[in-house]
Amino acid sequence: MNFDAIPRSALPALLRRMPKAELHMHIEGSLEPELIFALAQRNGVKLPYASEEALRRAYAFTDLQSFLDIYYAGASVLLKEQDFFDMAFAYLARAADDNVVHAEIFFDPQTHTERGVPIETVIVGLSHAMRRAHAELGISSALILCFLRHLSEEAALATLEQALPYRHQFIGVGLDSSERGHPPEKFARVFARARELGLHVVAHAGEEGPPAYIEAALDVLKVQRIDHGVRCVESPALVQRLARERVPLTVCPLSNVKLCVFESMARHNLPALLDAGLVATVNSDDPAYFGGYVNDNFVAAFEALPQLGASQAWQLARNSFDASFADESHKARWRAALDATFSEVARVSR
Ligand code: HPA
Ligand code: ZN
Repeated sequence: MNFDAIPRSALPALLRRMPKAELHMHIEGSLEPELIFALAQRNGVKLPYASEEALRRAYAFTDLQSFLDIYYAGASVLLKEQDFFDMAFAYLARAADDNVVHAEIFFDPQTHTERGVPIETVIVGLSHAMRRAHAELGISSALILCFLRHLSEEAALATLEQALPYRHQFIGVGLDSSERGHPPEKFARVFARARELGLHVVAHAGEEGPPAYIEAALDVLKVQRIDHGVRCVESPALVQRLARERVPLTVCPLSNVKLCVFESMARHNLPALLDAGLVATVNSDDPAYFGGYVNDNFVAAFEALPQLGASQAWQLARNSFDASFADESHKARWRAALDATFSEVARVSR
């Protein structure tokens, strides 16, 4: 669809108002410093930071690993079902405020089970918040269980087996944590098992890792979406394949700048990905750590990149619905609401 008649001045409000799905966010990455300190106090957990301000000052990342070290320290305050509920409800309320109508949420069970927290506590607490947010705020959501790729495949297989009593409470599996040196092939068996169970499959690839990791995620893990994937542009043949097969990329602009994947937002390749016909989407990754929630990501990218206008905004929101694992009946409703929003804004812009 072409909405080039909508002026740039209308973009920030339109980006905020348009209905959208968020497909790449780690729920542990939504823990704001205030909640980290409140939960630390409630649970008697000692943090290696003196104050919320001191913690925020540590958010000066140089690469993925420098972030992950702080992210796992933050997650150490999560012990009880209520903690997981509070974290997820806070995110869902914030997302609903950004006109996110559907969220597919990553969680990292191994970050918690390794500290002695039962997987049941994690899944039941998160699911309770998701049900409450649907009933009270109208936002739909689903869980995707991620394996930590710096740990072994045996540990991932054991995690999947532990999660099976809660099989109906998550829709898929993903792969996150330190990418370099941990190629997708390492998790071939656990992804085969997940596919056998009828789970959706996605993986982080091509954030810091090379295009070959994206290819291995597709060929060996047989993933349905690539999380990040921005390094695909280093292989024109891979870009053509992603476009031809309509493999969605869940792009996270503020994350990429904070973790120095791109030098600045003005250098981000989101416009090139869209120009190549890829099913790119915009997401927040770890909103409490990277400077904003999904609308902040949209506004920052569109501000810095003059190639992005109203037509690209429509395309990105449309892609988020197309790429989601929701039912077709829901997708049809969200697409219609998106088109109605854009038609209305185009009409008043004339
Ligand atoms: N990349 C890999 N693992 C992660 C990320 C990320 O951006 N956020 C949380 N875990
Ligand atoms: Zn991520």
